[in-house]
Amino acid sequence: MSGLVLIGPPGAGKGTQAKILQKRLGIDHISSGDLLRAAIATGTSKGRDAKRYMDRGELVPDDLVVSLIEERLIEDAARAFLLDGFPRTVRQAETLADMLARKGRSIDAALSLDVPTDELVARLGGRRTCRTCGAMFHMVFDPPRSPGVCDRCGGELYQREDDNEETIRARLRVFEKQTQPVLEHYAKQGKLRAVDGRGTPSEVSERVVAIIGDAR
Ligand code: AP5
Repeated sequence: MSGLVLIGPPGAGKGTQAKILQKRLGIDHISSGDLLRAAIATGTSKGRDAKRYMDRGELVPDDLVVSLIEERLIEDAARAFLLDGFPRTVRQAETLADMLARKGRSIDAALSLDVPTDELVARLGGRRTCRTCGAMFHMVFDPPRSPGVCDRCGGELYQREDDNEETIRARLRVFEKQTQPVLEHYAKQGKLRAVDGRGTPSEVSERVVAIIGDAR
């Protein structure tokens, strides 16, 4: 396997599934959202630029996000990877294909995680993330043992700034308008695989692994 992309609306479970697959298959998990939040946390100029868009639920400009992904892909150039949240525009998908072709690599499959909208909103509204280790919880579906405290490392749990109702709705609209065409792009190449994203994380993961097995 060379590379996989995981596409889905906000809250579809991309990060949750990517972390499970990273452990199960030993592949590299590259999340564009995490790279952008790390750039914001370290106060880089890319981070400052990105924050203005992310706070509004809009996509960060292609060139900015592509440069972060390229840096990260170069770090581990030979390993199989799973991209989470990238590409999100057709231009990003085309740039990714060119970037990989220069290294003799390509995307094997694009997995589309499908979840009904009301469930997406419920998942995002209850999400909490650990500031220290990045572990993810949900106040209803997967609550921490002590409110506000990470079970894994004792770190502080926080709610992402873009997980308020208004910004969630904006992100969902952006997905429909700007990222749906990416699904069509991969469908035309015969690489798109739809995954039912409902059910528990482990049920979804079994479906994903079965599909990846077929794509290899
Ligand atoms: P990003 O960080 O990528 O956020 P997103 O796409 O909006 O997706 P989320 O991280 O919100 O959700 P997820 O699908 O990973 O779900 P999760 O597993 O966390 O992007 C943020 C912003 O950065 C964008 O708005 C944009 O501004 C910018 N950006 C990023 N990439 C970009 C790009 N390529 N181009 C331009 N801009 C870009 O799960 C959510 C919750 O549900 C958790 O609490 C989890 O515990 C729970 N959960 C997960 N699975 C299940 C399940 N099966 N059952 C019950 N609960 C579940």
